[in-house]
Parts: sequence; C-alpha cells; structure tokens
Amino acid sequence: MLRDRATSAAEALTRRWVRRTMIARRQSPGRPKRVLILGAGGHGRVVLDILLQTGRHEVVGFLDNNADIHGRRIDGIPVLGCIDDLTPLAEEHEVEGVLIAIGDNGARRGLARRIDSAEIELINAVHPAAAMARNATLGRNVVIAAGVVVCAHCQIGDSVILNTGCIVDYQTMIGEGTHICPGVRIAGRVKVEPGVFVGIGATIIPKITLGCESIVGAGSVVIEDVPALGTVVGVPARRIKLAAATEDIAAMLLPARA
Ligand SMILES: CC(C)(COP(=O)(O)OP(=O)(O)OC[C@H]1O[C@@H](n2cnc3c(N)ncnc32)[C@H](O)[C@@H]1OP(=O)(O)O)[C@@H](O)C(=O)NCCC(=O)NCCS
Repeated sequence: MLRDRATSAAEALTRRWVRRTMIARRQSPGRPKRVLILGAGGHGRVVLDILLQTGRHEVVGFLDNNADIHGRRIDGIPVLGCIDDLTPLAEEHEVEGVLIAIGDNGARRGLARRIDSAEIELINAVHPAAAMARNATLGRNVVIAAGVVVCAHCQIGDSVILNTGCIVDYQTMIGEGTHICPGVRIAGRVKVEPGVFVGIGATIIPKITLGCESIVGAGSVVIEDVPALGTVVGVPARRIKLAAATEDIAAMLLPARA
C-alpha cells in the first residue's frame, strides 16, 4: 500500500516535470517550431529542403495517404502516417505547424481550408535564396523556392507555389491555390486568379488577367487575357480548350472564406 502510494507520487512528479519541461521548451525564444509536411512526393522533398535550409523549423515527419511509404524515411525524415490522421498525429508529436506539399491546386487549397478551420497553424517555406520585396505580402501555406524573385507591392495568396527561379514583377496579384512553375516570368500588374496553373518557362506580359483555374502551357507567351477554366498554349498563346459555362465555373469555386 505504502509502496503503491510512493510509486504514484513519483509518477505524478515525473508527469509534472515532463509537462514543465515541455512548456519551458515551447517558451524558449528562437526555438525551431515542430512541423509536419503533408505530402511526401517530389514537391514534399523540395519543401523539406527549403525548411531545412531556413533552419527555423524542426521537421518532425511527413504525412502521406500512400500507405506503402508509411514507416519509411525520406532524406532522414519519417513518414508517420495518413494525412487523414493529422489531428491525433499532430498531438502525439507535439506539432505546432503544417505545410501542405501537394502539387494538385484544388487538393492543396481544399485541404488548407479544412486545416485552417481546425486551427492548426499553416506555415510558409521561403527559400533563403529567394529575393522578396520588403512590401510584398504573403498568405499562408505558401512555398517560395530557390531563385524566385518577387518584386515590389506583389500580393501572394494562400497555398501558392512559386516554383524554382520564377519572376513575379511589381504589383502583380497571385490568387489562392495557384502554381507558378519553374522559370515562369510574370510581368507587372498581372492578375492571376485562384487555382491557376502556369507551365514551366511561360511568359505573361503586363496587365494580363489569367482567369480562375485556367492553364497556361509550358513555354507559352500570353499576350491577352485568359478566360476562367481556359487552356492556352504556344507563342503567342492560343486557346485550345473552351472555357466552361458560367454555372460550371460557379460550381467549381470553393466557398469564400468567412
Ligand atoms: C498545356 C498542357 C497542360 C496541355 O495538355 P493537354 O490538355 O493534355 O493537351 P494535349 O497534349 O492534348 O495538346 C493539345 C494540343 O496543344 C499542343 N500543346 C500542348 N502543350 C503545348 C505547349 N506547352 N506549347 C505549345 N503547344 C502545346 C499540342 O501539340 C496539341 O496540338 P495539336 O492539337 O495541334 O496536336 C500541357 O501540354 C503543358 O504544357 N503542361 C505544362 C507542364 C509543366 O509545365 N509542368 C511543370 C511542372 S513543375
């Protein structure tokens, strides 16, 4: 009986010590945040590299819905389980933030909105070799790869990927859930609406609007506005797929943030 009481007192003391240590660790200034990367594909590896280079985050693991890679390590970081199990795994590993490294624009944007409402912090990954204007603004869950240049007064929305070496010139707006591929050059005052995909090496001249969920083919030069859901290719870029009817576009759009 006495021994039982002594054991439980020791256990309580240990638990208290662990709790105090955890709180102290959380409060120590400059300590890297513990984060998870959602998506362990090629883009996930790029994101891991960026986070390791910045040194501001401690990457605890990847989550990926491909069960075949659970338990494996990618560049030394374990794949801990399914994205669907984010909440319990985040609790178990004392995670403070996540970044969604999924290439598909719609999937990335939808998941980001679900996580946002679950109140887990969505972090950004900005490569130290990216050149960002002081007054450019960034949303959340943004990935900015090596060699990217973002000029003055640009606005970069949530869940945007600015991929390796792309250039976004002054006063350009990049909408939520867009992917700007490597080597793309976007001139000043361009409006890129949500969900757009701009293929590798494309060029967009000034003041163009790329409509919601439109696609610009690799290497294309866009000299006129692209309608929502349209696909354009070539130099100069020509439409190869007609935009869907307005009601189809409305159905594809995610509800606006409350
Ligand atoms: C634009 C794109 C999405 C179109 O794909 P798709 O819908 O499968 O189109 P198709 O391959 O059926 O091509 C349709 C026509 O457009 C032409 N076309 C396709 N992409 C083109 C491009 N980038 N430039 C010029 N013409 C192109 C095709 O030659 C074909 O012409 P045709 O009808 O005269 O034969 C794709 O070709 C593309 O450029 N993807 C970009 C990929 C990329 O940048 N990835 C980087 C990831 S980081």
